[in-house]
Amino acid sequence: MTARPVIVGNWKMQLSHKASVELARSLKKLLSKHELTGHVVVCPSYPSLPAVQAELSGFPQLALGAQHVHWEERGAWTGEVSVAQIRPFVRWCIVGHSEQRLCTELTDERVSRTAALLIRHGIAPVVCLGETAQQRAADETVAVISRQMRLLLAAFTRPALSHLTIAYEPIWAISANEPAMLPEPMDTAGTLLLMRKLIANAFDDEAARRVRLLYGGSVTAATVGSYVREPGVDGVLVGSASTHPMEFAEIVRLVEEAA
Ligand code: PGA
Repeated sequence: MTARPVIVGNWKMQLSHKASVELARSLKKLLSKHELTGHVVVCPSYPSLPAVQAELSGFPQLALGAQHVHWEERGAWTGEVSVAQIRPFVRWCIVGHSEQRLCTELTDERVSRTAALLIRHGIAPVVCLGETAQQRAADETVAVISRQMRLLLAAFTRPALSHLTIAYEPIWAISANEPAMLPEPMDTAGTLLLMRKLIANAFDDEAARRVRLLYGGSVTAATVGSYVREPGVDGVLVGSASTHPMEFAEIVRLVEEAA
């Protein structure tokens, strides 16, 4: 595993404004006991970004991220939020989460465009990709990931790659989809290896090493160790478990331990 792992907490639409600030406060307390080498990022909903930012000021161990941003820089997009609008608050942003893709017109091309746009604005994208249960059943995982990776990398220059993080999230393994089983850690590491090879083919080995590759899907303190101990896994994207401060702090500790 990389020396500087990335652990992203995706709070989704689960918390009230008050609960978001309280969660940030609890995490600050719990994580101040640890020597952190990696990037720990929490992603509240937009309206809570300023308050969580204020709560975390003077605590650089915890970085702030957004859960989504629009692919256009500005325009007549009612209800949407632009890169320039999140820039005062965040250093990171999740892009192309499957739950966003479900409720917007977010294609792979637009995901790629958004990721490149974020990098131009100094925000690190965490791009989500992964196959559905049906694609997995049809044995299409490799084809789906290869296509998503090709479209993603098309918008990138070699230097921009060092700001890119990609999370492999098999959609069927996300806790909200109530998975009957979880992916084998060895299989997820195999998919990340495929992703790294595709980056190396499009650029070179050195460029491929610089992209951070995460696993996401029902990660808990009980399961995280088995995923991050596999070779080539640079961290995790955590949904449900990231809204429980003790659980998330324990996940951070276990990932750091494996690094
Ligand atoms: P989960 O969510 O950890 O609750 O499965 C992960 C995600 O959707 O990013």
